[in-house]
Amino acid sequence: METPSSYHRRLAPLLLLLCFCTLQVEVHASRKKLYVAYLGERKHGHPDHVVASHHETLSSVLESKQDILDSIIYSYKHGFSGFAAMLTKEQAQQLADLPEVISVQPSRRYQTTTTRSWDFLGLGLNDKVPSDLLHRSRYGEDTIIGIIDTGIWPESRSFSDDGYEPVPSRWKGVCQVGVGWDRSNCSRKIIGARFYHAGVAEEELKSDYLSARDANGHGTHTASTAAGSVVEAASFHGLASGTARGGAPRARIAVYKSVWGSGRGAGSGNTATVLAAIDDAIHDGVDVLSLSLVVEENSFGALHAVQKGITVVYAAGNSGPMPQVVRNTAPWVITVAASKIDRSFPTVITLGNKKQIVGQSLYYEGRNSSGRTFRLLANGGLCTDDALNGTDVRGQIVLCVAFQVPPLALFPLALKNVLDAGASGLIFAQYSMDALDAEADCKGIPCVLVDFNMANQIGNYMGAASSPVAKIEPARSVTGEEVVAPKIAAFSSRGPSIDYPEVIKPDIAAPGASILAAKGDSYALLSGTSMATPHVAGAVALLKALHPNWSPAAVKSAIMTTASITDARSMPILAQGLPRKIADPFDYGGGNINPNKAAEPGLIYDIDPSDYDKFFGCTFKKFIQCNATMLPGYHLNLPSIAIPDLKHPITVSRTVTNVGEVDAVYHAVTESPAGIKMDVEPSVLVFNATNKVITFQVKLSPLWRLQGDYTFGSLTWHNDQKTVRIPIAVQMTIYDFYADVA
Ligand SMILES: *[C@@H]1O[C@H](CO)[C@@H](O)[C@H](O)[C@H]1NC(C)=O
Ligand SMILES: *[C@@H]1O[C@H](CO)[C@@H](O)[C@H](O)[C@H]1NC(C)=O
Ligand SMILES: *[C@@H]1O[C@H](CO)[C@@H](O)[C@H](O)[C@H]1NC(C)=O
Ligand SMILES: *[C@@H]1O[C@H](CO)[C@@H](O)[C@H](O)[C@H]1NC(C)=O
Ligand SMILES: *[C@@H]1O[C@H](CO)[C@@H](O)[C@H](O)[C@H]1NC(C)=O
Repeated sequence: METPSSYHRRLAPLLLLLCFCTLQVEVHASRKKLYVAYLGERKHGHPDHVVASHHETLSSVLESKQDILDSIIYSYKHGFSGFAAMLTKEQAQQLADLPEVISVQPSRRYQTTTTRSWDFLGLGLNDKVPSDLLHRSRYGEDTIIGIIDTGIWPESRSFSDDGYEPVPSRWKGVCQVGVGWDRSNCSRKIIGARFYHAGVAEEELKSDYLSARDANGHGTHTASTAAGSVVEAASFHGLASGTARGGAPRARIAVYKSVWGSGRGAGSGNTATVLAAIDDAIHDGVDVLSLSLVVEENSFGALHAVQKGITVVYAAGNSGPMPQVVRNTAPWVITVAASKIDRSFPTVITLGNKKQIVGQSLYYEGRNSSGRTFRLLANGGLCTDDALNGTDVRGQIVLCVAFQVPPLALFPLALKNVLDAGASGLIFAQYSMDALDAEADCKGIPCVLVDFNMANQIGNYMGAASSPVAKIEPARSVTGEEVVAPKIAAFSSRGPSIDYPEVIKPDIAAPGASILAAKGDSYALLSGTSMATPHVAGAVALLKALHPNWSPAAVKSAIMTTASITDARSMPILAQGLPRKIADPFDYGGGNINPNKAAEPGLIYDIDPSDYDKFFGCTFKKFIQCNATMLPGYHLNLPSIAIPDLKHPITVSRTVTNVGEVDAVYHAVTESPAGIKMDVEPSVLVFNATNKVITFQVKLSPLWRLQGDYTFGSLTWHNDQKTVRIPIAVQMTIYDFYADVA
């Protein structure tokens, strides 16, 4: 489980990514490890024949039938052909050399992407209801969302199947029984449950149920966010109170538990378990797959799912605000960034001179009233061990100021030291970036986040008063226009993608900060791109219900081209970070999701699934070979254009399909990236009953010879009803493979 509360642990996935090659080399030759072999598209025929062919393939490297049976863990036979098996490094190598084998990779650990308690500032799930879309899609009742995660807690009120129609007859999934899970735990809401644990560490299994039951809470939270039934009066101790519900509250949930471990900061699965889940999900007939996991790039499982018409939604990761850290960036999936919505938890601090300062906290009524009377204020400086040594702060409210970057790493330490010293409250000052991990209730004492400006006000008062005092009121929940929203959350991983630089990633942003959703029998606020991902999955379920014939590319296009880049006041969406700035496509792709608009996008950038092979075969089979003669990825018909190395003018074509009114005329409005001349030809598109699909050219010419950085622009097709916007990112270069990091 990724817990970006710690800066260093936040960096870990990135380091892990950069270290993969080394790790591979260090594998002991004689020790058997779990490997995943990929044999490509499934040949026609009975699944049993596919399994037999896997045994035959393995017989080239293993001696006996028994060895094969002992070695093979999963046979992937529905969506694609392949298997997971315990092998030595030599055996894996021999296997990779066989002509029918496309790739063999060691199975790697997956982690979920919750930021456990960046709970201080934010919002809940129950924001504005996209009523028209919900109504027209029948709340997603006919769609099936597959959740690949830590399982589910079936007793949660969010999974009530009260009033549901029978399970759709096309459903081919199963209800796998296990520890704490019998057939009665599946319902008209949770229509399928499976679990996969090969290669998962023993201690993680021990702390979990050997079934689809969720000991962790992560999977229950994501499932209820995507498709939770409507539950009135849910809240976190009165904060963020309201109706909890999923984006598609009537959609059916299929649970594929592939990530294990109940502890905070725990949670792991691996390539083999996640691939097994995807393979079964393809077979079972899900419409959408939601994966709030951080994973190694290049998941062929997801590609096969997309080729079968399943939209695959992945979390972008929680390693922001640094650039180049976005994960799960395959062109065929939807990669989701996290944003914040219009809710905050202002907390009033009253100083002894009656001055009131408003910070943010989740200090709630009734938790502990120790802060609510005037108490002495102490200056704790950095609140390190040293800083607090020798000062008696028992019963006092301590002001801690985190000048270092990143301050969020200091918060848990400051809280611990202040608690150890017996203080009754914490005011934590950091630069103006609204994100804080505070374990929600700061272990009983009120702790309030302020910025340097507010800290300075408090400091001035402390300097002037002989015995400075302050009191802290419980937080209120504020929603609506008063709050600047949406904003891209600081922790949300930023592009560009290092694996697919010719594709803008992430694709879209969705709410992912302080999301209230089910956890066990109650409700909890969690933050992370994990929480943003099921928001998109839920919206996709509604869109699929409305437009069953749309391909995954069409669904993604509808979502990206209608996304918001400004807030309700027409002010640009901001991205939290160092410093806060106006968001660009590497923060949020097309923008912040707007499901109602996505329902009627006007034009669609569609993609024939076989094109992914055509453009990305090189990356796809990177363990074997790279076909340098392949077309660059920016020629793929994506609803975005990214050119990482513009040296000379480049012309890309795009094709749009009219899905709106039959007779329609669209005009191009271009916003050229700085330093780039951009021409669109034709600049007017005329659709009628025979002309439904039109191809146009975009020529991008560098104005200078420059070893530059990315600049951003857009192309919008508009008429008086629709605007269809795609983001553009271009980097002018002179040299290849040139890092400008000095
Ligand atoms: C799930 O099954 C367990 C027994 O394994 C049972 O005690 C529990 O009530 C069931 N929950 C639901 C929601 O049916
Ligand atoms: C606190 O300071 C005293 C005296 O300077 C020192 O002996 C002691 O080890 C310090 N304690 C901690 C926890 O740093
Ligand atoms: C409230 O906080 C104080 C520390 O200031 C602590 O001693 C007390 O146990 C807390 N009470 C509860 C109910 O958490
Ligand atoms: C490489 O790609 C080109 C263009 O798509 C294709 O014609 C050629 O057959 C490919 N070569 C290999 C070895 O796949
Ligand atoms: C659609 O437009 C094309 C090109 O302008 C024209 O040739 C064709 O006749 C039109 N079709 C109809 C049905 O109006």
